[in-house]
Amino acid sequence: MAVRTVITWGDPRLKVNSADVGEWTPELEQLVEDLFETALAEEGLGIAAPQVGINLNLAVVDLSCGEDPARKTVLINPEIVLTEGSQTGPEGCLSVPGIHEVLERPRKVRVKNRRRDGSWEELEGEDLLARAYCHEIDHLRGRLFVEYFGPVKRQLIQRKYQKNRR
Ligand code: NI
Repeated sequence: MAVRTVITWGDPRLKVNSADVGEWTPELEQLVEDLFETALAEEGLGIAAPQVGINLNLAVVDLSCGEDPARKTVLINPEIVLTEGSQTGPEGCLSVPGIHEVLERPRKVRVKNRRRDGSWEELEGEDLLARAYCHEIDHLRGRLFVEYFGPVKRQLIQRKYQKNRR
């Protein structure tokens, strides 16, 4: 297992519409393990493959931060099929370090997700889990959470981000 390098805002690989995962392989299993380890090391609740430079529709979510194996979720070719309500709360991203901004998300989502064996399941997420699913699935479509804001707010965020990194 290995912690992988997380690429950050501005890297073109974060803007790609990623490709579907095909047949499950030992390499993919290794990638999943590395993603969990990387999220844990960086204190994130989840991470998507594009954030380590691999443009595949694959992401992991673990709201328990390694405390509860039963809560580890692997998203494979996921698709949001239903959203309900809305929630407003702070959001951050390992690829945009130092930035936390309040963003509206659905309160509840249903996600069509592929299992490793190729069969499909439906996952339900509420509150923080719904937010995490939306956030990670956005990564697979090449979208960062800071891109939801208008140009003025985005410029402010960008300035703060660059200042932080100096
Ligand atoms: Ni993120």
